Amino acid sequence: MKFYIATDHAGINYKDFVIELLKNKNIEVEDLGPYSKDRVDYPDFAQKCAKAVKEDSGSFGILICGTGIGMSIAANKVDGIRAALCHDAYTASMARAHNEAQILCFGERVVGLGVVESIIDAFITTQPEGGRHTQRVKKIMAIK
Ligand code: RB5
Repeated sequence: MKFYIATDHAGINYKDFVIELLKNKNIEVEDLGPYSKDRVDYPDFAQKCAKAVKEDSGSFGILICGTGIGMSIAANKVDGIRAALCHDAYTASMARAHNEAQILCFGERVVGLGVVESIIDAFITTQPEGGRHTQRVKKIMAIK
């Protein structure tokens, strides 16, 4: 399992915590930035992460901004990408089980670190249920 991670200035305080969390689970993680707390535009980093996930088949992404909203909207513009904004373990597990999301988004201004840990645990341990859910995912991906 490999993750790409990116944030904006409003999500960067959580980046090192998440990287350590993944490394402690022996999950490979590549930090796509930013590398300072200077103000940046979240669409740039959403696009960078979404394209990395698209090009590296089977990989996953984590995007963090203030709310997670802008990151998820921007990442979903990349063809083939399903980015899910999650607020708790339930939404994170459903994002994998029903929506087959490859990218997990959340907001540093919305969820605390304990919730982040449970969100990530749920996202990495839940498998797609397949069947009717995959049929629906295919319908999403056919929308142009
Ligand atoms: C930055 O202030 C903020 O707008 C951004 O991090 C994010 O929450 C956008 O959706």
